Amino acid sequence: MKHFLTLMDLSATTGKALLARAIVLKRLQAEGTPHRILAGKTLGMIFDKSSTRTRVSFEVGMFQLGGHALFLHSNVTQLGRGESIADSARVLSRMVDGITIRTFEHAIVEEFARYSQVPVINALTNLTHPCQILADLMTFWEHRGVIAGRTFCWIGDGNNMLHSWINACRTFDFSLHYACPAGYEPDAALLAAATAQGANIVAFDDPMQAVVGADMVTTDVWASMGQEDEQAQRKKNFAHYQVTTAMMSEANPNAIFMHCLPAHRGEEVAAEVIDGSQSVVWDEAENRLHVQKALLEWLLHVDG
Ligand code: CP
Ligand code: NVA
Repeated sequence: MKHFLTLMDLSATTGKALLARAIVLKRLQAEGTPHRILAGKTLGMIFDKSSTRTRVSFEVGMFQLGGHALFLHSNVTQLGRGESIADSARVLSRMVDGITIRTFEHAIVEEFARYSQVPVINALTNLTHPCQILADLMTFWEHRGVIAGRTFCWIGDGNNMLHSWINACRTFDFSLHYACPAGYEPDAALLAAATAQGANIVAFDDPMQAVVGADMVTTDVWASMGQEDEQAQRKKNFAHYQVTTAMMSEANPNAIFMHCLPAHRGEEVAAEVIDGSQSVVWDEAENRLHVQKALLEWLLHVDG
């Protein structure tokens, strides 16, 4: 049974094929060419956290592929009333063809996948957000071409997004610079696993140094979902980690800016950067739709 819980689940060949397929699916959709590859298939979408892009892109994606998606927020299912992960996985996977989960602890998606008879997709956990990185890589490819050999730079929190960039490094063969405030570094075990596989990752104390040589600069909110009560403290600790025009000018001249969204202008990114000419954030958001359609096709389509 194939699942997509982290980017470590993708081989380099499959990863590249998914991006290429996403570009084709984007063109088919733009042309109005039907591609009902998942006709008759259903996707259950479990959410324990808020979402705009992830919910809409999976739901619209299933519709465009000829299938159907069910939005299952935990506050309206028995999961939210304490039915176990294992029992929920056993039951739901007898009815649907695939399941996405957005939740808190990463162990929940792992447990769900263990008991599921159908593919499970991680739609964000506290640890990782792999679907977003697929969309980001697709967006880089569309704007700047080949990914292998490039340098990408992360500024800010050592969170689920940075973890997914770390996991993607080796598979897609790019180098990663990152600068996080002290105390907000990425998970040491996840980082060690990536570097043990040969990922080229360099940590910087100074964000202005980290962006030097970067072909893409990216960041994320200072307080992720579930960390709302740390917002004020984080705002102080992250004060020097805003991606500004001055910071972008230290990157390569052709560098682009990405952000998974939602963004807080004036915190992790200056308005003139996210709304400026180097920003590709709207294409990045749209590409969630196209790349997840490629992912759904890979996981749910059975030939013949
Ligand atoms: N980037 C992202 O996952 O957005 P949502 O939280 O709106 O789904
Ligand atoms: N790091 C953010 C990403 C949101 C898409 C969060 O987990 O809230």
